[in-house]
Amino acid sequence: MTDLATLRLDADDRGLDRAAAILGKGGLVAFPTETVYGLGADACNGRAVARIFAAKGRPRFNPLIVHLADADAVRGLVAWSDMAETLASRFWPGPLTLVLPLLPDSPLSPLVTAELPSLALRVPAHPLARALLARFGGPVAAPSANPSGRISPTSAAHVAAGLSGRIEAILDGGPCPVGLESTIIGLTDTPRLLRPGGLASEEIEAALGRPLARSGGEITAPGQLASHYAPAAPVRLNAHEKRPGERLLGFGTVPGADLNLSPAGDPTEAAANLFAMLHQIDDGTAPIAVSPIPETGLGRAINDRLRRAAAPRD
Ligand code: TXA
Ligand code: MG
Repeated sequence: MTDLATLRLDADDRGLDRAAAILGKGGLVAFPTETVYGLGADACNGRAVARIFAAKGRPRFNPLIVHLADADAVRGLVAWSDMAETLASRFWPGPLTLVLPLLPDSPLSPLVTAELPSLALRVPAHPLARALLARFGGPVAAPSANPSGRISPTSAAHVAAGLSGRIEAILDGGPCPVGLESTIIGLTDTPRLLRPGGLASEEIEAALGRPLARSGGEITAPGQLASHYAPAAPVRLNAHEKRPGERLLGFGTVPGADLNLSPAGDPTEAAANLFAMLHQIDDGTAPIAVSPIPETGLGRAINDRLRRAAAPRD
């Protein structure tokens, strides 16, 4: 299906009104969050949610994150807990997703959770995301606004390149400031890091006063497939030099870099640049070499995405 005239909406009252109206009618709207652009649909409308999976080519077993205007809106959706309260009051709105037990009588479409007994929730901080959620007035299911398996979009142009003709509208809010998807924490039993992301796990552990459990390599967030975030060209990690024919994505002071994630060696800056630079450096054929990035703070999430980008493709 590539026959829709995808509207480009401006980041003003008129654009927000139209975006909320499209969601209300069961349409798909891509919108900016501080992490990456999301592809939103009314989470209580099964037909609308089904269209997300169709537009992205996403497998139905991969559940979606539900976006809320504020933490009060969790009522009626999940079983809340003291730990959830600790993390939500400290980090929401922000780049943190919490997975909690789904209440059986929630109004959400069962497609949202892929029939799992848990639900992923997030209150984004981006002012446009917040304004849209407030105007729409209900839960919005939103995966990253990219075709399944490709790099997440951090600009309206990335969204258009991947999904034009498949969705009703794109709300253009410029580049996403964090640039990496949210950190996902499972709170259905012992607190667990399900996906490293835009909030450093060290900060979450400090707030909880305990270490997070980590998954031992099995897929705990169903979307964490090994070869996610694939650029078209092959990727070589921890490159200390640029080999003939390669394009080098640098970090810190490296000579000969075609692009540099952060010449100053700042992981926050590198996170914000990561997906845009992977898009930019990928010409489909020339192998991409990437400088080593320290495995601490946001560096963990950057390395997670880079390992997936470099993983063997199926
Ligand atoms: O920053 C973000 O999180 C962005 C913006 C748009 O909010 N969204 C995002 O969504 O990255 P998506 O669909 O690309 O990734 C969501 C991840 C997937 O890996 C999915 O499997 C996992 O969250 N997930 C969703 N519900 C889950 C659940 N109940 N239990 C475990 N993992 C879940
Ligand atoms: Mg995604």
